[in-house]
Amino acid sequence: MVLSAADKTNVKGVFAKIGGQAEEYGAETLARMFATYPQTKTYFPHFGLSPGSAQVKGHGKKVAAALVEAVNNIDDIAGALSKLSDLHAQKLRVDPVNFKLLGQCFLVVVAIRNPSVLTPEVHASLDKFLCAVGTVLTAKYR
Ligand code: HEM
Repeated sequence: MVLSAADKTNVKGVFAKIGGQAEEYGAETLARMFATYPQTKTYFPHFGLSPGSAQVKGHGKKVAAALVEAVNNIDDIAGALSKLSDLHAQKLRVDPVNFKLLGQCFLVVVAIRNPSVLTPEVHASLDKFLCAVGTVLTAKYR
């Protein structure tokens, strides 16, 4: 998934808008994913998954931080998320289909919280970016 210069600018613009609220976006994304696609809950048997649970909030913070890290290193997402890629591919073995579900939920959260930012062009760029992150996190499956 190759991001054009315009895609990179669009994605950076979205995250600039999100700013300090990234943690909330992350938690809301996870809560939506668990509610809309309950099969994703099977990876988190050790979490309390009710919306607003401390574990969903805590994990949302980590996921958001990883996305911010990817944006800050948008020319080398694979390098920036290398350790996370090892974790998801070698230890967690999350089925790649689930990354699309998480990406969809993140897009919906952006659309709800920031409708004006999500023009069709920005939507397309953000979708490409989330696909690129998913590709990196599932690149090391053996
Ligand atoms: C752990 C990021 C997608 C399942 C993590 C961690 C981060 C992260 C930062 C914490 C790593 C650590 O504690 O060192 C991401 C990002 C994703 C993504 C950026 C996609 C944009 C997914 C998906 C699933 C998943 C789709 C499954 C539906 C897990 C699980 C853990 C984890 C089970 C371990 C949780 C724990 O026991 O603390 N992920 N993740 N991840 N992720 Fe992901």
